[in-house]
Amino acid sequence: HRTAVVIPAAGRGVRLGPGAPKALRMLSGTPILVHAVRAMAASRAVSLVVVVAPPDGAPEVKRLLDEHSLPERTDYLVVPGGESRQESVRLGLEALPEGIDTVLVHDAARPLVPVDTVDSVVAAVREGAVAVVPALPLADTVKEVAPSPGGGPERVVATPERARLRAVQTPQGFAHATLARAHREVAGAVTDDAGMVEALGLDVVVVPGHEEAFKVTRPLDLVLAEAVLARRRA
Ligand code: CTP
Ligand code: MG
Repeated sequence: HRTAVVIPAAGRGVRLGPGAPKALRMLSGTPILVHAVRAMAASRAVSLVVVVAPPDGAPEVKRLLDEHSLPERTDYLVVPGGESRQESVRLGLEALPEGIDTVLVHDAARPLVPVDTVDSVVAAVREGAVAVVPALPLADTVKEVAPSPGGGPERVVATPERARLRAVQTPQGFAHATLARAHREVAGAVTDDAGMVEALGLDVVVVPGHEEAFKVTRPLDLVLAEAVLARRRA
């Protein structure tokens, strides 16, 4: 088995506010991206990590990976990304060498995912699932809304039953051939990779996610991430 990880890290991080691209911002003195790469390379299953850098940031990202200590049993590649996450993932997939049978896709913006979560995604793919997502039940009730016809506040259209909903995280895991086919054949924007496999009509399997696999999206998430790291050091 050869398992590779594609880490899309090409986003600007608009919701985090002004500053460097999100993946290059610091968390406890180390770039978010380096935390994410270490989190994935911590899995003994992972033999190759492909980082998809901001379009003009590939040399800087290469330098960052060289400067930080990373497990030596894993190979690292850096490629420039694209305009959308979907395009960035596709560019990462195109950089994979022959002989990869399992591919994980992991957001650079989820730097603290525990290795047990990574391993359970890999295990589910090796047991035969073509697509696997880690997911958690929701704390908040979710409403579907629509714009008000005459302008003004949005109106609630529906309240899906919360117990049947899941918040989906990464790493998502795939049979390489299935994800490559999804990226070739599925047109239109989808917000996660498993969604593209669903669009092919194939089964996506759910494994338990983890609270610490949360995505650093808004400023408060940086506060939470620093607190998680401080608790790990204690
Ligand atoms: N991503 C990417 N290429 C893009 C856009 C996003 O590789 N063109 C990556 C981000 O770097 C991130 C992951 O996709 O690791 C999840 O995206 P998100 O959390 O939305 O990050 P950003 O797009 O950077 O943030 P924002 O939407 O707030 O700008
Ligand atoms: Mg985004």
